[in-house]
Amino acid sequence: MLRAVAEGVYCVGSVDWLMRDFHSFATPHGVTYNSYLVLDEKIALIDTVKAPFAKELFSNIADISNAEKIDYIIVNHAEPDHASALPLVVQSCKKAKVVCTKKCQEILSHYHDVSKWEFQIVKEGDTLSLGKKTLSFIETPMLHWPESMFTYLKEEKILFSMDAFGQHFSSSLRFDDEVNLCDVMEEAKRYYANVVMPYGQPVLKALEKIKNIAIRVIAPSHGVIWRKSVATIVSLYEEWALFKPQSKILVIYDTMWESTKEMAVAIHRGASIEKVSAHLISVRSTNMTDIVTEILDAQGIVFGSANLNQRVMPFMGMLFTYLKGLKPQKKIGAAFGSYGWGRGAVEEIEEVLKDLGFETVSPAIKSQWKPTAEILEKCRQLGRNMAEKVKK
Ligand code: FEO
Repeated sequence: MLRAVAEGVYCVGSVDWLMRDFHSFATPHGVTYNSYLVLDEKIALIDTVKAPFAKELFSNIADISNAEKIDYIIVNHAEPDHASALPLVVQSCKKAKVVCTKKCQEILSHYHDVSKWEFQIVKEGDTLSLGKKTLSFIETPMLHWPESMFTYLKEEKILFSMDAFGQHFSSSLRFDDEVNLCDVMEEAKRYYANVVMPYGQPVLKALEKIKNIAIRVIAPSHGVIWRKSVATIVSLYEEWALFKPQSKILVIYDTMWESTKEMAVAIHRGASIEKVSAHLISVRSTNMTDIVTEILDAQGIVFGSANLNQRVMPFMGMLFTYLKGLKPQKKIGAAFGSYGWGRGAVEEIEEVLKDLGFETVSPAIKSQWKPTAEILEKCRQLGRNMAEKVKK
């Protein structure tokens, strides 16, 4: 894990190879908690790690310097995956000041006993000289917590971006040009969709703040460091924040005795036209993290559920709860489903589409018991209509 990012700048964080569930975010490639040591006449540590990984952090620091020589601990973000080791770090870095915003100090005080910590409070545009190197601070509130902040190292043109531009991706290699870039980009998209999606406006404000800054390297708090694809990941963040849609349709369903599945297959078949990417997704057998990642750039989303006790089926309800928080935008939606003697599931989907602000393109399709040939043709037509609508 110990790698130089630039002269006098080292990666000293830790790799959580075994993590597979990051507060409900599925992490098949594990997680990293990146921390950076900047050496100069003064020494700064930028962000720490999750508490159980403090030993690895100290061992990495010891390979380069001595914790007691650290002058500043910069806290870009107070969330425990980056700051729960902070009490141990403050204890070991005996002369270090904790450098953070006022809001960050307040949040840290709710997690830790900070009464004996020496703080140096910074705000937008403040600088901190380490000798030949200078750090400056860029506040990025609600990306994705109120205290979120970037730190910029002017002389090396490195942006320490905390969660922004991060990915849950474990590797002993540290740079984007050393690993499979497709895997990293997919994980960056999963991270954006599942963590950052509700904060499009704060993302755009942050991008505006950094647009005139020369950035050679983006060093996030999770995953690999961007040095080859800096412009690409910045431009993807802009696309994602604006919900720039692809010609893509998702048919997301849950079924009880296959009737709703038959309808889903018919809709998907209708939507599978040239130049449109149509995906058929069973909500019960697909991870929520993956579904939401697909939703990020899909323009058309058709939800279907069998009726269970006058409601949608449980996994569909779980997805709706998740989506109401994530607030995907600029989507076109439709509803379908089968029922026996009671109704309610399709009506519930229609309500959710309204709540989410989706544009709806056609009346919901309902089938009592098994869908007839006529209903299946209606489903195919719905898919076709949706596909024509999203086709570029
Ligand atoms: Fe990686 Fe918001 O903490």
